[in-house]
Amino acid sequence: MISNSTPEAHAETANILDGRSVADRLIANVGHAVKNSIARGQRPPGLAVVLVGNDPASDVYVGNKVKACARAGLVSRDFRLPHGSDQKSLLALIDDLNADPEIDGILVQLPLPGHMDELDVTRRIDPDKDVDGFHPVNVGRLALRDPGLRPCTPRGVMTLLNAYDLDPKASRAVVVGASNIVGRPLALELLLAGATVSIAHRFTEDLKSLVEQAEYLFVAVGKSGIVRSEWIASGTVVVDIGIHRDDDGRLRGDLEFDDVRQRAAWLTPVPGGVGPMTVATLMQNTAEANGLVVRAP
Ligand code: GUN
Repeated sequence: MISNSTPEAHAETANILDGRSVADRLIANVGHAVKNSIARGQRPPGLAVVLVGNDPASDVYVGNKVKACARAGLVSRDFRLPHGSDQKSLLALIDDLNADPEIDGILVQLPLPGHMDELDVTRRIDPDKDVDGFHPVNVGRLALRDPGLRPCTPRGVMTLLNAYDLDPKASRAVVVGASNIVGRPLALELLLAGATVSIAHRFTEDLKSLVEQAEYLFVAVGKSGIVRSEWIASGTVVVDIGIHRDDDGRLRGDLEFDDVRQRAAWLTPVPGGVGPMTVATLMQNTAEANGLVVRAP
């Protein structure tokens, strides 16, 4: 049971949700499934990663995804289009990849340059190859309790909780941030898992009282200082999904790790929490799009 008592009442510091080690296990499980499939004479799963432009952060994320493919035994194909490319050429590339029998998964790194329409691009991907889970069919299936390919960060968060036997069923879960990539699909995942879910966003009044009530708190704002550590009740399970560089160049999340650690029962670090889970889940989704069965880590 949680309480809004002083941090001293929760005498111990939070347990760490070690996303890096769970992600390593998940990638190893993907690797086993791929090896067995190859031994049965099948080709390895193939992932196409498409990056438009040269945003440095996107470049790092795409590099991590390509490296993870090698670790999991997947084949990756990396496509770079110049920033000024027109949407027509991106759609033509997606058409080719949709038709390519050696490609099981297609990922177009977001954000796209401003002259492109992300929804149009996402809609063009074959839903059965949409390993990001962003196509309206896959988002709709998740909403209707019939999940197909599921967005990687939300699914990765659920896998991480599950790996520590943390079950949000019947709990009060609060998601701060309502993006298409994280907040909205995470709320759907939590609903599917039986939590009572609130989503906070830029128009939410009294964020403090929502946060105070959370037994499970998920923060995906993309900037620090919105959710204050002292609002978090003693004993809460806290998942920090933000990642950015502070003025000293250090990677950090949306929350003050050291302060939250004195209050929460469980907490994800940044880096080493949700980030590796997102990448590992992309490997899992690609293997599953190929028809493989991947064991939970
Ligand atoms: N940009 C930030 N996160 C993601 C993600 O999970 N998938 C894609 N395609 N782009 C992103």
